[in-house]
Amino acid sequence: MATQLRRGVELDIVPLSDAIGVEVRGLDLSKPIDDATGQALRTAWAENSILLVRGQELDYDAQFEYARVYGEVAARVKPPVEKRAYRPDAENPMQLVTNEKDTEGRPVGSLGDGEMWFHTDKCYVEKPHRASFLYAEQLPSEGGHTKYASLYNTYDRLPADLKDKLEGSKVLQMYDYTKTERGSLDQRLDDLLHYWQPAFVTNPDTGRKAVYMSRLMSVRVEGYSDEESRELIDAVADITEAPDNVYEHVWTPGDIMIWDNLSCLHARTDWPHEQTRRLRRVTIKGEALIG
Ligand SMILES: [Fe+2]
Repeated sequence: MATQLRRGVELDIVPLSDAIGVEVRGLDLSKPIDDATGQALRTAWAENSILLVRGQELDYDAQFEYARVYGEVAARVKPPVEKRAYRPDAENPMQLVTNEKDTEGRPVGSLGDGEMWFHTDKCYVEKPHRASFLYAEQLPSEGGHTKYASLYNTYDRLPADLKDKLEGSKVLQMYDYTKTERGSLDQRLDDLLHYWQPAFVTNPDTGRKAVYMSRLMSVRVEGYSDEESRELIDAVADITEAPDNVYEHVWTPGDIMIWDNLSCLHARTDWPHEQTRRLRRVTIKGEALIG
């Protein structure tokens, strides 16, 4: 454990990996956080992309309160065409991420099942959520881990030719809620949330650049054909997803993680589907991205 001074406040900070992330120890998030500590946490989070606190007992109010340390709690985003027959509690900014079903066999939460490729939340709207939180309640005996990859490192590791091709370009971000793989441009774009975002974004808290692209949700690079775009996106994704750029978080009940959607991607590993996995998600509002 290392005590580090952040904005005049001492925090017990432990790196989660060489690539990305820190754990902060010695906090009780069920109690109010003073402004100086809040500022210190926000700085540590922005610099490291993900920030974990373990062993917390949080009700809904305490989770919202902790989220407000980092910004304004965001509303849920609705798809333009409703593809699911039933969406539980769709207006609540507290989203249950779980595979549980109610007594009528309907999903209790959202995004419940299985593996999910690397992506960043809500990249396909003009103002993506700046941060997302997951708070772990119930976990399977194996799997269901969340992997995080640094997009700051991706930018720093991009070969010059790739950087030249992407500099100043926009990338079409799109997501089909019914699919677990990358969407196809054969689909009607009007039916899907989509937005052209800068390929590189400047982080408003750190001033650092990150490559804002993912294998799941980036589908086209401005000025390139479908095939060329796919090659560029895959070449970037190979750098982002390199094992030495990834931290895989094995959840324990009581963990709460916040991540910066502008400087990292996240992915989920599969788990035995007969076992329950339940986490609670809150997001923080973001602004239009700075290229
Ligand atoms: Fe996500």
